[in-house]
Amino acid sequence: MSSPSLFRIPIVDLRAQYAKIRDEVRSAIDDVAESQQFILGPAVTQFEAQMAHYLNCAHAVGVASGSDALLLALMALDIGPGDAVITTPFTFFSTVSSITRLGATPLLVDIDDENYLLAAKGVERLLSEHGKIHQGATTDVRTGLRIKALLPVHLFGQCCAMNELSTLARKFQLRIVEDVAQACGARMAMDGHEKFAGTIGDLGCFSFFPSKNLGGFGDGGLVSANSSELAARLRMLRMHGESAKYHHAVTGINSRLDSLQAAVLSVKQRYLDTWCEQRIERAQVYHRLFRQSGLLGAQAVAIPAATSDKSHVFNNYVIGAERRDGLQQFLAESGIQSEAYYPLPLHLQKCFADLGYQQGDFPKAESAANRVLALPLYPELTVAQQEAVVETVGAFYRR
Ligand SMILES: Cc1ncc(COP(=O)(O)O)c(C=O)c1O
Repeated sequence: MSSPSLFRIPIVDLRAQYAKIRDEVRSAIDDVAESQQFILGPAVTQFEAQMAHYLNCAHAVGVASGSDALLLALMALDIGPGDAVITTPFTFFSTVSSITRLGATPLLVDIDDENYLLAAKGVERLLSEHGKIHQGATTDVRTGLRIKALLPVHLFGQCCAMNELSTLARKFQLRIVEDVAQACGARMAMDGHEKFAGTIGDLGCFSFFPSKNLGGFGDGGLVSANSSELAARLRMLRMHGESAKYHHAVTGINSRLDSLQAAVLSVKQRYLDTWCEQRIERAQVYHRLFRQSGLLGAQAVAIPAATSDKSHVFNNYVIGAERRDGLQQFLAESGIQSEAYYPLPLHLQKCFADLGYQQGDFPKAESAANRVLALPLYPELTVAQQEAVVETVGAFYRR
């Protein structure tokens, strides 16, 4: 993240949020300092219980980052060489690197262009054309790889089509690992019940990177689970695979949620729903301002579909913009920060060249990479600031 102080309107202003909760947060940090229990201990146990209660799931396991949450989730499901995991090329790097780091193969499927999310129809096509179910397992007939899991990403704060993906997972005997890094607090209707993103599949992977809807004072992450067996495995894997002190049942890693982060997050979690609502309200203000601006009809700008519920909690407000790089430059010159999440889809990254994907393989992800631009959005953003953002976008296209 660039320094907010460089911009009149930063993309996120964490100082405004901190000013409101300073005393509570400092007192929580003080409690940890007084206890001198920095590794796991009561602060982490309390935060894990708080998150499990909030998410209405059986278990929550604190880990060192969202990237580690993904890695540990896949490790807990025994995913490794010979296995494939279906996911999207249009996401943050570690969604895909968590698969390759374990020697497994990402099987990429293009996105829906209206919401940038993994297209359930594309997943269905891939599975029905190339997946062969035999004795409760699905094999990719082209490669012989066992397709073990789906890894949908609730990108920018918006829930994927989990009803459709869950049906496919059941039919093809796949596990589901949800990447909820950007969608903490989002929820959707599943089988007549409201469920939180991250609790629909087998495991949900959260990030507490400071700019997330629930952000810590550094790195942090969490895996949600309903299975006691998977939760126990995760607890073991985050502690070097220890089954008892200095006895290692499996090869794990060192990836625990820091106690100081847990203390800060316990305070901030209590505000999460309010902050999500404020993000949704501000997204609605952008929707209105863009509709009034005349920019949509001219096709210069596409805005996210309006949602009336909490299935999109707007970690980012992302527009699709013609001449995106020029617009970003123009906004920056006007003191407005914006970010292109993500300018190069993952199938075209140098480090994934050996997966064998080419330019043109995922046209929707490639087109999105040229158009997307995240505008300033955070709970304390004012309507006047949002008006200034939309006016400046308009000024760029009217030049
Ligand atoms: C979609 C997505 N997945 C995974 C991660 C990784 O989280 P972390 O930065 O906590 O490792 C992020 C964070 O930026 C993310 O946005």
